[in-house]
Amino acid sequence: MLTQNPRVVFAKRPGTRIPVPGEHIIFESSRSIDLDSVPLNGGFLTKTLMLSPEPFMRERMRDLHVPSYSTHAVLGEPLVSFGLVVVLRSEKEGINPGDHLYGLTTWEAYTVQPYVEGRARHNAEEAPDYTFDVDSLALQVVPDPKGTFPWSRYFTVLGAPGLTAFCGFEGCTDAKPGETIYVSSGASAVGIVVIQLAKAKGLKVIASAGTDNKVEYMRSLGADVAFNYRTTPVADVLKKHGPLDLYWDNVGGEVVELAIEYSRLHARLIMCGSISEYSVAPEQRHGIKNTSMIFKKRLRIEGFLVPDLAPRLAPRFFAEMPGLVAEGKITAKEHITEGLENGPDALVAVLKEGGNGAAGKPVIRVATE
Ligand SMILES: NC(=O)c1ccc[n+]([C@@H]2O[C@H](COP(=O)([O-])OP(=O)(O)OC[C@H]3O[C@@H](n4cnc5c(N)ncnc54)[C@H](OP(=O)(O)O)[C@@H]3O)[C@@H](O)[C@H]2O)c1
Repeated sequence: MLTQNPRVVFAKRPGTRIPVPGEHIIFESSRSIDLDSVPLNGGFLTKTLMLSPEPFMRERMRDLHVPSYSTHAVLGEPLVSFGLVVVLRSEKEGINPGDHLYGLTTWEAYTVQPYVEGRARHNAEEAPDYTFDVDSLALQVVPDPKGTFPWSRYFTVLGAPGLTAFCGFEGCTDAKPGETIYVSSGASAVGIVVIQLAKAKGLKVIASAGTDNKVEYMRSLGADVAFNYRTTPVADVLKKHGPLDLYWDNVGGEVVELAIEYSRLHARLIMCGSISEYSVAPEQRHGIKNTSMIFKKRLRIEGFLVPDLAPRLAPRFFAEMPGLVAEGKITAKEHITEGLENGPDALVAVLKEGGNGAAGKPVIRVATE
């Protein structure tokens, strides 16, 4: 029997614009699949439960000549992001019907895995040597078969954002109690974990976000100074509450210049992402004008990618984080959007200042079990 298999397709590269639903990313409901007889070819059939709209997807939509750390999204194929799926049928050893898997998957209701065509793969011709192999992010059985936590928690503290924050914080910051850290986009999925790790370590935390309810949320997570960067100048806050020992950059651009300006001697700037630049032409980006302060203050500026640090730090993350979450020492919340048809709008919101306005990591619920 045929079942509808809607999907969200990458239809056109957005250049330097924020993608437009219906033009660059299109919801399609015309396809169907026979769940009982579709060939698995040694793989397995999954039903998509939840998907994560995230900045990484925009980076993969860039023009073909623009190099980056990831391979390019493929036109005409479904979008790919982190997701939670349940296995319906399997021909693959070690994967059984009923298993819940988390990792990169396609924006469609049902998928024969592993999905190859649309999945970014390391391609020597296309990819420069700083591209990582996304196969390291392939679907894995979630290590919590009883569902102790809400499944959506895999999209925040227990999944990729939590691992990103943990790897960068433990691997790069050299944070010491009593130091001051500023976290930009502090209410993002990564930011909320950085705030909590920093507080647990005894740091003073300054954090910014683009809406007042996110500011309240960051305060509830322990941020000592939380502010709305769209209504309060970042410089005023850093001048009053700095100088900084650490800056965690999720945003890029002008805020990096300010972090340099209000850094202490020997401060560390950890570059996790630069979401303010992903949809802006290079000539329109904010150039950093105080680079000489980097040597004058002997600053350390370090970029990191989670797959580089994960081999060393993921075992600790998976050993420690579930316990901290179960004890309530690290918390998170998710903002659920219902329905794959609303996926394009949910993705676009992530890419704009203030996001969708709500506090909580955006998650798309595609189906219940
Ligand atoms: N290095 C790595 O391995 C790695 C891994 C994962 C993610 N990242 C990076 O980490 C950062 C956070 O990712 P996430 O998944 O946690 O994000 P997220 O939860 O999807 O949050 C995105 C938020 O970014 C803010 N934003 C969007 N456009 C902006 C703009 N033009 N200027 C300033 N802020 C803007 C918005 O919040 P507010 O405006 O309200 O703050 C938005 O809600 C991103 O830069 C991402 O690329 C890096």
